[in-house]
Amino acid sequence: MQKYLSMHFFRYIQNELYAEDIPVRELINEYGSPLYIYSYKTLVRHFKAYDDSFDSIPHLICYAVKANSNLSILRLLGSLGSGADIVSGGELYRATKAGIRPSRIVYAGVGKTEEEIDFALKKGILMFNVESEQELKKIDEVAGRLSKRARIALRINPDIDPETHPYISTGLKEHKFGIPIEEALEHYRLAKSLKNIDVVGVHKHIGSQITSAQPFVDALKRVLILVEELKKEDINIRYLDIGGGLGIQYESEKPPHPKELAKRLLPILRDSRMTLILEPGRSIVGNAGILVTRVLYTKPGLGKEFVIVDAAMNDLMRPTLYGAYHRIVPVKKVRRKGIIADIVGPICESGDFLAREREIPQLKPGELIAVMSAGAYGFSMSSNYNSRPRVAEVMVKGKEHYLIRERETYKDLIRGERLVEV
Ligand code: LLP
Repeated sequence: MQKYLSMHFFRYIQNELYAEDIPVRELINEYGSPLYIYSYKTLVRHFKAYDDSFDSIPHLICYAVKANSNLSILRLLGSLGSGADIVSGGELYRATKAGIRPSRIVYAGVGKTEEEIDFALKKGILMFNVESEQELKKIDEVAGRLSKRARIALRINPDIDPETHPYISTGLKEHKFGIPIEEALEHYRLAKSLKNIDVVGVHKHIGSQITSAQPFVDALKRVLILVEELKKEDINIRYLDIGGGLGIQYESEKPPHPKELAKRLLPILRDSRMTLILEPGRSIVGNAGILVTRVLYTKPGLGKEFVIVDAAMNDLMRPTLYGAYHRIVPVKKVRRKGIIADIVGPICESGDFLAREREIPQLKPGELIAVMSAGAYGFSMSSNYNSRPRVAEVMVKGKEHYLIRERETYKDLIRGERLVEV
């Protein structure tokens, strides 16, 4: 069962890597390299893994748009019943464009601007996950101006260590996120007193790529104590939003399946009568996507080889930014001697690598390799650094394939710029 979320539909058939029922090579022939490829079946399977696991209680899955915000992916998840967890006006724009109903959208983030609050209120989102007193007052003010009421949850920082990479850990006292749990009660009292605010929820999110259920259990218990205290003050919480964060297998991690998470959480929640909200991102889309890249050159280095490919840190930033590990496999399996290599991109930075000191079969110019588990925080964190057009994205469904984002052109690179003589 544990393996479930690392299962996907990228596999070898006679030594040729397939995305569902199509050879990856064919997709590259048609769309070029580098290319992000997503598997429809994997996305559906992962979404359902969550939805089915929490079936026995009222729940809403709000897919975390930041993990991968492609419109077609949002549309697919929306059609399966997903809502959205958003963190900006731009994500709200995307989610609603893709057909996700505003009544299923929750909005987090420490720095919502007045314009963004205005936009979200006009759209009629389910709730704001509020991160500070000043933000709360700002939402009240904007709602008043629009003659609307704003539904809110307070994002509580439960001070739980999720034991993940420090950059993606968010639920400890020293982090910028949420309101310290000791101060929650007074913030809720304030929220209740504000004229244009409806207090409907509690929110927490403690980090990402969490590979054990225990931090979720510990954080939930803390939040439930708060919910009881709130009841005494006649503040009745309808939505319990426990954030995202369940990890995936990149290398040898063994993250729990959503079913296991549910098994641990449901007994604690059974009588709560609240609607549970989950905000998974990585565990839905991470293993549903790969980045395929072509070898340009190889050259000897000190005690290793450099394999220079046409994808770079601007296309997949995770190795550079977090030292993240992504499995790298050949698109065509060949029997060759193994080498130790740094797989690097063309960008002018020493930090531009997809893998370091990796054992791989020797590669030749022109050959294709696939960077696995690249569906989450891959394209969505990509940039145009070194004036590199961003790559195309393709969705595969069985034997069918669909271009879901065109490769950028040089023209796209300068869109909005002005050639001003100063
Ligand atoms: N909800 C909130 C409020 C979040 O801040 C996040 C992620 C999620 C949900 C989704 O978490 P997930 O299920 O994907 O773990 N760029 C980093 C990950 C940053 C996560 C930020 N927040 C990476 O590539 O590892």
